[in-house]
Amino acid sequence: MVFAANAVPETNQRRSLAFSNNWIESTLLRAVKDVPVENEIVVNVSTSPLYYIAEGSRGTIPAWKSTMLRRCTLEKGEMAALVHIRKRVNLGALALDWEWYGRRNPEFPRGVPLYISAQDDIVDIEFDPLVSFAAQPAVSASPRRYRLKLNLWYTPEETDCGIHTGHKFLEVHTQLWGTGHMQKFRQNNVDTLYEDVLMPPGFTHDPFFTLAIDRTFSYPWHRYYADTDCIWMAIELHPL
Ligand SMILES: [Fe+2]
Repeated sequence: MVFAANAVPETNQRRSLAFSNNWIESTLLRAVKDVPVENEIVVNVSTSPLYYIAEGSRGTIPAWKSTMLRRCTLEKGEMAALVHIRKRVNLGALALDWEWYGRRNPEFPRGVPLYISAQDDIVDIEFDPLVSFAAQPAVSASPRRYRLKLNLWYTPEETDCGIHTGHKFLEVHTQLWGTGHMQKFRQNNVDTLYEDVLMPPGFTHDPFFTLAIDRTFSYPWHRYYADTDCIWMAIELHPL
């Protein structure tokens, strides 16, 4: 179910995300208030900060960022995705029921073992991406409507997931398992790399898209590259 835009939710609404399975436990929390966290990757999937406390110390997960928390309390926040690897044995089998990406994209190279989970439609939200992502508080806010969607990706080690561009949505990614890279290129060619962002577990990269003043956006050529077996989460915001 997609939550209505900007409705006032009850405190601590909780549901399982569509891609939970025997290996990955993932939960969506909404209107977060004093929620204990045992051992989770916590992703702030909202436009406002998410606060946590441990032993009297307070920490902040900024909008669209993440961290790994152990025995903390999520004090206050709008919305969070909590992800936990339940077991490691035969971890790659988590993608057996997912889709090989080439099945949905005919242009995708045939030999690339990239798998996508079910996508979960989370909520329709209204916000200004220039304020939220580009940290340009000087501009006067001009909110737009987006549908927030989450899904997981899986690849085995040393997978080149393909240089691409031209997304019609805003995307960032959170690393959940293994170590990969998000990389930018001048052209559709591996020799033209100009930025290499390491993706360790619990980390969400800064946006790769560039926002114009009219809130249209564009992407450089980019790709995900998996050093080890990798599981990561896509956070997508589709303009409505
Ligand atoms: Fe992309």
